[in-house]
Amino acid sequence: MDLDTPFFIFGLTTGVALTAAVQYFISAWTAAKTPHSKDSTPRDSVHHPDASPITSPDALPAIRRQSWNVPSFVAAEGTLPRLEREFTVSSHRLQTMVRHLVNEMKKGLAQDGHTLKMIPSYVISRPTGFETGSYFALDLGGSNFRVCLVILEGQGRTRVRQTKHIVSDELKTGSGEALFDFFAECISKFLQELGLDPSEARSLGFTFSFPIEQHAINSGTLMQWNKGFSATGVLKADVVELLNKALKKARINVKVTALVNDTVGTLISHAYRDPQTYVGVIFGTGTNAAYVERIEEIPKWTGPIPPTKEMVINTEWGAYDEASVLPITSFDRDLDRASTNPRKQIFEKMISGMYLGEIVRYVLLDLISTGELFKGRSSQTLTTPYQFETAYMSRIERDHSLELSDTKAVLEDILGLQATTVQDRRIVKHVCELVGIRAARLSAAGVAAIVTKMNRLDACTVAVDGSVFQNYPHFANRMRDALRELLGIMAENIVLEQARDGSGEGAALIAALHGHD
Ligand code: BGC
Repeated sequence: MDLDTPFFIFGLTTGVALTAAVQYFISAWTAAKTPHSKDSTPRDSVHHPDASPITSPDALPAIRRQSWNVPSFVAAEGTLPRLEREFTVSSHRLQTMVRHLVNEMKKGLAQDGHTLKMIPSYVISRPTGFETGSYFALDLGGSNFRVCLVILEGQGRTRVRQTKHIVSDELKTGSGEALFDFFAECISKFLQELGLDPSEARSLGFTFSFPIEQHAINSGTLMQWNKGFSATGVLKADVVELLNKALKKARINVKVTALVNDTVGTLISHAYRDPQTYVGVIFGTGTNAAYVERIEEIPKWTGPIPPTKEMVINTEWGAYDEASVLPITSFDRDLDRASTNPRKQIFEKMISGMYLGEIVRYVLLDLISTGELFKGRSSQTLTTPYQFETAYMSRIERDHSLELSDTKAVLEDILGLQATTVQDRRIVKHVCELVGIRAARLSAAGVAAIVTKMNRLDACTVAVDGSVFQNYPHFANRMRDALRELLGIMAENIVLEQARDGSGEGAALIAALHGHD
């Protein structure tokens, strides 16, 4: 058992030291006796009491007791129970979501214009692991732009040299020309750093992590900006042409041989090491998944039948928005209304790193407005959109100190809230947990839908990348718990693995695989 767990239970149990100490020992003893798998976190199970496959019946009462042991004055006023109800996603709802998602995937594969875009990526083969050579790759994912030189050494081994640049808000929301000129400038600097002549012909893979309607392996038009981008003149334009234009202006002789989504790159780069990889997922600033589909399952595909008879599909699952299935709260609605892309990317707005902190911020402002938090006082920082970062949630969820001292540092030193009480901090921590658990459970439903659609419940590696999966405490284990609820024993065959730089390596590999198409 996680040594910190009793302290967490202690923290939630009561503010009165003596009672807490007694309850602490009782909880610790009960938890120690509660059977759970090595990597399942017991307190994460509390929000899905109908989780039959993973929780033995006699464990449930103890787990429930921990869940509802919130500070008594709060419980009396009903705040946390109300929030728990709103943010809890039952097993039943998750099952419904999986069935619905599978149907939506089928619709998107049959025809364009459905919620799930199910975009054929033109990537028709997976690597053997023996590919070799040096390739350039560009990666525009969210807030960062990278230029990479990827050396494929064969036997699944790679070496990467790269430079990373922050994409400022001005660039994100300015003119497309300025954005692409910035990319060319970064490439030029990188070549200079490596002492390479820009007039020498080279090819590169371009990871562009937005919904692109792909027309060929190296051509595609932007269908929609997400993640705070709105640069003008790019929508409906071929992003490869825009890049080529900027490169020509900067006198750089580079040809784009592959245009790739980050999920596709993640899948392909992981498959270079593990041939059982059929799915690539990103839980980062945004979220999305790609998987290998049989060509006969893609009725809308009118191109030539590839020899492999398969094609990687970019699902663009972030756009999923079924209100009758997703547990959309008033806070999600407020966030969506105020976003740069209202009514779009609803699933993404419930689970990805750009938005999780913002959901928490909305909940906290609500609790402040009713006087239930911080004695009704807010701060300028907290009232500013997107100032409660998802990284703060990670810090708060990781804080198992008795007084929640790191939570205090976040709230007081960073967010400028005054003299917070331990009780305040417990509530904030619990809100973070509710939002974080919901995100992980919804993410698991997405993965379960894909492996179900592929009919690969017997063995499948899911390559996962992105800051939320990498850094958010318990995210991966919460996902695994939910997968067990959804798939029962078959969940053991679905291996979620941290991917390594899919966006860079993947683009280079796809350039290697498809460079001659
Ligand atoms: C984009 C996807 C991308 C995902 C993860 C989403 O906002 O629409 O294309 O794969 O973010 O980066």
